[in-house]
Amino acid sequence: MAQLVVPRPFLKWAGGKTQLTKELLKRLPPDFKNYHEPFVGGGALFFALMRAKNKIKKAYLADLNTELVDTYLAIRDDVETLITVLAGYPHDRDFFYDIRAQAPAEMDRAYRAARMIYLNKTCYNGLYRVNRKGKFNVPFGSYKSPKICDEVNLRAVSEVLQKVEIEQRSFETVLQCARKNDLVYFDPPYQPVSKTANFTSYQPTGFGQAEQQKLSEVCHKLGAKQAKVMLSNSNATLIHELYSTNGFCINKVQANRAINSNPKKRGKLTELIVTNYRTAGC
Ligand SMILES: C[S@@+](CC[C@H](N)C(=O)[O-])C[C@H]1O[C@@H](n2cnc3c(N)ncnc32)[C@H](O)[C@@H]1O
Repeated sequence: MAQLVVPRPFLKWAGGKTQLTKELLKRLPPDFKNYHEPFVGGGALFFALMRAKNKIKKAYLADLNTELVDTYLAIRDDVETLITVLAGYPHDRDFFYDIRAQAPAEMDRAYRAARMIYLNKTCYNGLYRVNRKGKFNVPFGSYKSPKICDEVNLRAVSEVLQKVEIEQRSFETVLQCARKNDLVYFDPPYQPVSKTANFTSYQPTGFGQAEQQKLSEVCHKLGAKQAKVMLSNSNATLIHELYSTNGFCINKVQANRAINSNPKKRGKLTELIVTNYRTAGC
């Protein structure tokens, strides 16, 4: 089997933008200084940019999810320990539930990261979901022989992360570090288009209308600082309303729906790419 290109996302992440990467790349500004991604998740666009050499000078990645950010940091700073630990983990149901029951806060970072990657590769649908207490609660999956430890990719990811700043923080803090001509790419939890399409469980607190509103204010403030903003979101009425003023371009694109509990509902759907600069067709 052909080796997949590296570096690429090391986790399967709900709302991951691998399917939309081509459309996002087409709508990048022709040039920009630093790159900021405050909802980095699996980092599909970031890794695509890192594969296309010289696209990024300096990157600032962030996410509210502590375990996710710790995993990035372990890969950046201690990839060999992580690989040694992860390579020793078997694909086994009992082992899965033992690891799932462990409290990540009490583990060393490399072990915490190994737990995160292991659960992601072996759980149902590769989903990350926590309960109200913040405990990972996805059951064992039905993969036959998942690649639990992809050493080649983990080392490639570690290499490109060496000069990258990665922090656990909320999106609005980007206002403190983004400057004129920087590019900020926002990929927040999507505004639900219907009651059944409501996947916002990356965090116990969720991401509602008030957060979407606050995010649009951050986008407007970044525009005032002459930073470049690109945002992906659902084709929901609220998103049209929030970005239909102040010179934002709203592009409609077709994307494959990655996560839906009903397989019949997986397919193409319209999503939005919003920019505060002109793009082709807008
Ligand atoms: C749609 S996902 C990002 C997916 C990512 N672009 C990818 O390719 O995998 C949204 C991310 O926002 C994070 N998040 C939720 N609330 C946040 C907040 N207030 N500030 C920063 N990140 C947040 C979640 O943990 C999740 O990783």
